[in-house]
Amino acid sequence: MGEAWRIVAVRRLSEAQLARLSRIAEVEYFEDLTDDNREEFLAALSRAHGLIGGKLELDEAMLAEAPALRVVSTISVGYDHLPLAAMNRRGILLCHTPDVLTESTADTAFALIMATQRRLVELANLVREGRWQAHIGREHFGVDVHGKTLGIVGAGRIGAAIARRGALGFGMPVLYTASTPKPELEASLGAQRRELDTLLAEADIVCLSVPYNADTHHLIDAAALARMKSSAALVNVARGRVVDEPALIDALQRGVIRAAGLDVFAEEPMPGDSPLASMANVVATPHIGSATHETREAMAQLAVDNLVGALAGRGPRTAVNE
Ligand code: DGY
Repeated sequence: MGEAWRIVAVRRLSEAQLARLSRIAEVEYFEDLTDDNREEFLAALSRAHGLIGGKLELDEAMLAEAPALRVVSTISVGYDHLPLAAMNRRGILLCHTPDVLTESTADTAFALIMATQRRLVELANLVREGRWQAHIGREHFGVDVHGKTLGIVGAGRIGAAIARRGALGFGMPVLYTASTPKPELEASLGAQRRELDTLLAEADIVCLSVPYNADTHHLIDAAALARMKSSAALVNVARGRVVDEPALIDALQRGVIRAAGLDVFAEEPMPGDSPLASMANVVATPHIGSATHETREAMAQLAVDNLVGALAGRGPRTAVNE
């Protein structure tokens, strides 16, 4: 190719990573996207061969204005926010960052499990706010984690890592849903595969780790919540729209289920006036699944490897639609 590669980079890249991209291309970096720099971003995109970044905003109309674009490298494992079908029609390669965030995201799920079972946020706030004035009584008791039945909805890489923590660290019997059996999970953890309805009825903690797509949209709706034990907790580190959020709020308010630990929401950032922000039986975190220094660095590094490999013709390490 006669002309130089042009890359648009958005958010989450370090100076060293940008320097690496600059060795193979002209790079225009946007630390963040705002209304103020949107026109500038769109102009850069219209010239770009590669796009890399976190929380990429790209739709079909933007693709149509980016005729040279051939590789998109998202700094995330999920790509439900990107127009894959349109990219496929254009032959645009999509790369993502699986594996490197598996363990951190499983840690987040477990933090939510612990916090939800033991009411950590609610009770820590007693201390922080000077309201710890008597010995803790039954009204403040939590629920055990060890020995409870953990139901993993979607036993892919992250689901399996959550299952390992539960079975090996906390002696939890593990149930899972998956389109095909997972013999390695069954052999190493004694995990048992169930249909979704059965898992919902048997688990004490239901943990969601499925990708978001048309099949998983509102997978957990009012009927699914009604199948869960009234003592059970729901933990979601997948995507907010896997759950019918109004149905969940209603179920939590009416005691259909006991509690929820949520890292993902139908709308992000979640509006501050959502009931989920203030309910005592909800622990809500701002989509921090992979948000550790080490993991975000590894994700950005892999995304850079993918883009450089794809543009240099060596091939990416982790493509979605190769
Ligand atoms: C992902 O990578 O998809 C996680 O949700 C973090 O954004």
